[in-house]
Amino acid sequence: MPTYSSSIKEAYEIARSVRANAHAPYSEFQVGAALKLRGQKELIGGCNVENASYGLTCCAERNALFQAVAKFGKIDPEYIIIVTDSNPPAPPCGLCLQAMAEFCQPSFEVYLANLKGIQEKLLLKDLLPKPFHLNFWSV
Ligand code: THU
Repeated sequence: MPTYSSSIKEAYEIARSVRANAHAPYSEFQVGAALKLRGQKELIGGCNVENASYGLTCCAERNALFQAVAKFGKIDPEYIIIVTDSNPPAPPCGLCLQAMAEFCQPSFEVYLANLKGIQEKLLLKDLLPKPFHLNFWSV
């Protein structure tokens, strides 16, 4: 397993502790995320929040991303660490990838982790090679 910088390791610990706040009584699948923004030291945490209506559920990744937008307005995301208790660790869902594509560069780093540690580093452009952008099309 590669060695990671101290800031990546710190982000892992934050994602792991935020995961404990997940509201997941229906799936019992808890997810934690920590989002790093360029120019900001503070990491933004997110956890999945489920709802009795099921469809209202919001993933950990989108909660972190939207919280960052609410806090700073314009954001320049550098990386996200996602922690689940699964092996292999779960990648972000399609909705979250499209939400990331709205705010993140194709080189945005996505670290997949479980309770044993960080298992994989991926880039947004590999997870979602063709995001939907309105400016791709002439309308
Ligand atoms: N979940 C996330 O938080 N992130 C993802 O990318 C995929 C799924 C959550 C949603 C739901 O609360 C639970 O995991 C099971 O789908």
